[in-house]
Amino acid sequence: MEAREQWGTKIGFILAATGSAIGLGNIWKFPFITGMYGGAAFVLAYIVCIALIGFPVMIIEFAIGRKTQRNPVGAFEKLAPGTPWFLAGGLGVAAGFVILSYYSVVAGWTLGYVFMAIADVFKNFTKPAEAGDYFANFAANPLFTIGTHLAFMALCVFVVIKGVKGGIERFSKIMMPVLLSIIIVLMIRGLTLPGAEKGLSFLFLPDFSKLNGTTVLVALGHAFFTLSLGMGTMLTYGSYLSRRDNIISSAVTIVILDTGIALMAGVAIFTAVFAHGLAPDQGSALIFHVLPTVFPKIPGGYIFGIMFFFLLLIAALTSGISLLEVVIAYFVDEKGWSRRKATLVFGGIIFAMGVPSALSHGPLADMKFFFGMTFFDFMDYMSFKYMLPLGGFLMTIFVAYFWGAKEFIAEIQSGCPKFSIRPVAAVVIITISGILILVTLIAGIMGLGG
Ligand code: PHE
Repeated sequence: MEAREQWGTKIGFILAATGSAIGLGNIWKFPFITGMYGGAAFVLAYIVCIALIGFPVMIIEFAIGRKTQRNPVGAFEKLAPGTPWFLAGGLGVAAGFVILSYYSVVAGWTLGYVFMAIADVFKNFTKPAEAGDYFANFAANPLFTIGTHLAFMALCVFVVIKGVKGGIERFSKIMMPVLLSIIIVLMIRGLTLPGAEKGLSFLFLPDFSKLNGTTVLVALGHAFFTLSLGMGTMLTYGSYLSRRDNIISSAVTIVILDTGIALMAGVAIFTAVFAHGLAPDQGSALIFHVLPTVFPKIPGGYIFGIMFFFLLLIAALTSGISLLEVVIAYFVDEKGWSRRKATLVFGGIIFAMGVPSALSHGPLADMKFFFGMTFFDFMDYMSFKYMLPLGGFLMTIFVAYFWGAKEFIAEIQSGCPKFSIRPVAAVVIITISGILILVTLIAGIMGLGG
């Protein structure tokens, strides 16, 4: 078997992991859920979840990955041989299939909208309702949605097939700076619009009466989703790290960049939304309904429109490849497949799995598969609400009570010798994170918080 790959440079790893974290979650989902769940109060709950739960879970994933140098299933098998713990990794690989299959559909819409922006389709929209109808027609057309979903999966396969260093790392190193630059330009554009301050206060001045159980549940689920946690993505990326790398400083950088980009996207979007007197609580279609109406009204809107959807596409791509990599790492490490064969076969299977999601806003819109949801909604619901938090919960328990805090701390100290914490304190912190996740999961299962 070939030697297992490693990242070429530390910055390459950071950019790839940040690329995984920053995605549709930051630029599409974060603004629309913030709009739905009360603005700044939700933002606050989300930041608390990131700090108390997301950050420790990310360190856990990096430590398990680097220690074992394996995919999620192999990692648990190595640390706890002969036990059912490998199933926790299996859940992660399964989540990779589920999430990528519908993620790629949304990413496909984005790809379609890059072309719409170039073709200047938005100039005809005067009201969000028009943009909304246009979007509904687009999302209902099987040719468009399956075609763009296929194109997006092909792009992911194209990058992943080239490997960790030559594919994922190289692509992220070029694209992440582009993404950062575009978002800064868009944010400045938003801030200089007349009336921008209304958007800023919506995003940053909390109205605590808006804070309730639902807000917290959604904020926690989103903390996992946006940081790519709970399914072994960061574990897999950590498995390509060398012993010399500093896990803590990497996690701090990634968390700050991910949260920063989400907030910047929020500023860019809500300043525009409020400057034009539009409603922030449109739901998942927010960016597709509202922004195409906003761009034609602002100077330079044609270019900004193209930049925005291109930004979204890059962000989705660096996340899509990380989802695919979890699946590929499993088949390469555990089943001895070549990277090429695994990527082509599973890229194809995930594409096929995504077809019902691609049809969920068109021919299959009335087909309710589970709990009265369309296939697309069910995939999103299952992964975001259950699979990721459950995976994260299992990892906290595993580290605190099976692998052991001493080993965990020793793994962090390699590459960060100054780090020190008493094992008991580490167990307490990890247990608190675990309990918070469990409470949220149970509340979700009991149907609290919708
Ligand atoms: N973090 C990505 C986003 O915000 C989504 C993702 C989730 C990627 C889980 C990998 C694993 O869009």
